[in-house]
Amino acid sequence: MSFTAKLSDIVGPTNVLTGAEAAPFLTDWRNRFTGRAIAVVRPGTTQQVADVVRACADHGVPLVPQGGNTGLCGGATPDDSGQAVVLLTSRLNRVRAVDTVNDTMTVEAGCILQAVQERATAEGRFFPLSLGAEGSCTIGGNLATNAGGTGVLRYGNMRDLTLGLEVVGADGEIWDGLRGLRKDNTGYDLRDLYVGSEGTLGIITAAIIKLFPQPAARCTALLALSSADQAIELLARARSGFAASLTGFELMAGVCLQMVTRTYPAQRLPFEGPSAAAPWYALLEISDAESEAHARERFEVVLGEAIEAGEADDAVVAENIAQSKALWHLRESITLAQAEAGKSIKHDVSLPISQIPHFVQETDALLQQRFPGLVNMTFGHLGDGNLHYNVGTSSAFGDADMLANQDAIYALVHDRVHAFGGSISAEHGVGQLKVGELARYKSTQELKIMSLLKRSLDPQCILNPGKVLPSYWCSPNA
Ligand code: FAD
Ligand code: MLT
Ligand code: ZN
Repeated sequence: MSFTAKLSDIVGPTNVLTGAEAAPFLTDWRNRFTGRAIAVVRPGTTQQVADVVRACADHGVPLVPQGGNTGLCGGATPDDSGQAVVLLTSRLNRVRAVDTVNDTMTVEAGCILQAVQERATAEGRFFPLSLGAEGSCTIGGNLATNAGGTGVLRYGNMRDLTLGLEVVGADGEIWDGLRGLRKDNTGYDLRDLYVGSEGTLGIITAAIIKLFPQPAARCTALLALSSADQAIELLARARSGFAASLTGFELMAGVCLQMVTRTYPAQRLPFEGPSAAAPWYALLEISDAESEAHARERFEVVLGEAIEAGEADDAVVAENIAQSKALWHLRESITLAQAEAGKSIKHDVSLPISQIPHFVQETDALLQQRFPGLVNMTFGHLGDGNLHYNVGTSSAFGDADMLANQDAIYALVHDRVHAFGGSISAEHGVGQLKVGELARYKSTQELKIMSLLKRSLDPQCILNPGKVLPSYWCSPNA
């Protein structure tokens, strides 16, 4: 039996896609990478995943897991050799169980994040992972990239939200780690090893995730700021003023929101005068156990004090859910507007929060000096110390300049991040985009341990090769 016939036998012929049917799964969301594949397969059960992996292992065929294909580092796109199989998780989309006493839900890897949030709400609970791609990204992709988003400040990232996993290893064996335990010290933590491994150590087929009580109300405010220093002072005040009620603190350069309102004229900034053209904005969200009116009152007190102390220049507090949504919509539209605006470089970095103003000031100046006309478009999850330190084009620095200089721009920014004690990937992962960069900044000892793990769990190197670790570190002689 040929290899593709074997795949058809396992998942059914309609779930083995080739040619035009496979094409949408061979290019990444940003259109940065396009690969080729023998086929795209869609298993419908964990056992089928295991059988597909075993067939691939028998034939030495590499496997690239893919969920919603919204990843920003090319991790779900095969290389152009045409030798790999893309394993799509879209049919693994069942909620297996909900336990409202244990506050957990058992979901399959292909469940769409938004569907999981909605199911939690229907059960009177709250699942807090929230990101702009939630309408199409999957729980498996969220786990494989250890996704962050806008609720990390209060609830943590995907790793923090996960209790148990079910994983198919490179040999096709199923590890049933679906335990809904908040304490389990029985040796090495395999769950945490697989979370964030971007499909290079195993294929995640299901997870037990944590649920939380629904907040009685949520309220949002947008503040106009004149510097990144102000943002840090405002964050400190918001943390002490709101304590655990502070569920979001996002920072956005004015140019980012101007790009959004230019690209989507139906969206508007809720300020007039100088505040409509502020250099920076902060978006704050609090959750309240009492009511919306109570949340607004708390906002008015703390933000009033912040303005009096010179930690913000102006503030608008949303008066209802529709206004809150409109403020979040401005924030969530930055990535989409950026994709329409031309070439850009996304640096997804994390830094000690105290170092952020200094880092931004110094790196902005260095970039402008070396690449005049390049546009600094920083935004991100300030409460987590995570900046999307992005750079865009202008009439003085066009797409061709950006492409010609992208390696030099990466090197300049990442060298500064490293010098400030930061990380070159905060929440998007490494994928294929940052493999070279990872090798530059991780210590040899870290790379050695990662390589030992990779080679013991995947000795044939068939799981998402070329992602996360440079190929050299995956070969038997490394
Ligand atoms: P994919 O893109 O399909 O895959 C991502 C990686 O995970 C690949 O390496 C793939 O091989 C691997 N993988 C997928 N499924 C599995 C599985 N079942 N088992 C093993 N490996 C698997 N990310 C954030 O962290 N925070 C944000 O705020 C955020 N906002 C975004 C906004 C927009 C508009 C977009 C387009 C993206 C955003 N992202 C954000 C990035 C992206 O949505 C996340 O990385 C998400 O977790 C990817 O999920 P996915 O299902 O699309 O994964
Ligand atoms: C975000 O915070 O909006 C995302 O991580 C996406 C991006 O960086 O563009
Ligand atoms: Zn982000």
